[in-house]
Amino acid sequence: MNNIEKAPEVFDFSGASENKRSKKKRKIRWIARGLIAALILIIVAAFFNVAEITEYTIVSDKIDEGFKIALITDLHCTSYGKEQQRLISSIKAGKPDIILLGGDIFHHHGERESGNILIAEAVKIAPVYFVPGNHEEANPEYLQILEEAEANGAIVLNNQIAEIEINGNPVILAGGNRDVFSMWYNAPEDFAERDDYKIALNHFPDMYTSIMGFGFDMMLSGHAHGGQVRIPLLFPQGLYTPGQGKFPKYTGGLYEFSGEYDNADFKLIVSRGLSKRHSGQFRVFNRPELVFVTVTSSVLRV
Ligand SMILES: [Fe+2]
Repeated sequence: MNNIEKAPEVFDFSGASENKRSKKKRKIRWIARGLIAALILIIVAAFFNVAEITEYTIVSDKIDEGFKIALITDLHCTSYGKEQQRLISSIKAGKPDIILLGGDIFHHHGERESGNILIAEAVKIAPVYFVPGNHEEANPEYLQILEEAEANGAIVLNNQIAEIEINGNPVILAGGNRDVFSMWYNAPEDFAERDDYKIALNHFPDMYTSIMGFGFDMMLSGHAHGGQVRIPLLFPQGLYTPGQGKFPKYTGGLYEFSGEYDNADFKLIVSRGLSKRHSGQFRVFNRPELVFVTVTSSVLRV
């Protein structure tokens, strides 16, 4: 005979354990919903690519009356509304004294109208200077691009130096590409001694090492597209850019150097550019940008 006693079955007539189970289920459901909502927000923020305006202010004792630069790079013929009107009205609203086009306004193939319209409209706001980038150079119709830019009113600086005046301040503007040495052929003889505010406009930010030793106050660049894929906190300058390779350092922002290459005070400003997408590349946590740089006097006026 089997003497094993069967344990008495316990019935929970109060329903407390079922309540516990459904409470737990509800909790898990809310956590899952929260995680999905957070994920959606992160994805939306990551791929949000409405262009923004970035403003920098540089103080210099070489400057008497301050002036404002609009820096436009890496448009790659992206269209900002009909006839670029959204971009043009943003430039106009910034009230720049000079507009600098820092290369790759045009793409290495495809239509050029969007870039040409930008130039034709921008010259109505302020003088426009244009330095070609690698994509213009790679375009089979490179010379035609430069001719069209000039025909639309831009001054092309292709490894050339211009002596200009902005709001009464003498300014030397040197526009170059990777072949920076050829720009010295037309440099003023007393370049080093001159007290003019000296700006280098060069598409390639990594060229700053070849520039800063010559007494420039500032270099303005693009090309890096913000390092394309940025990971906040971990890789805020992006994962890769041509010229600087993996985990680049100069892809968008203001970088200050002092005492390096005999330059007491040198600023590099890199625009993340205005292209939304091209050649299958995309931006992550890296909105396109229009940059304004205000150069102002260090003297307090009372
Ligand atoms: Fe480029």
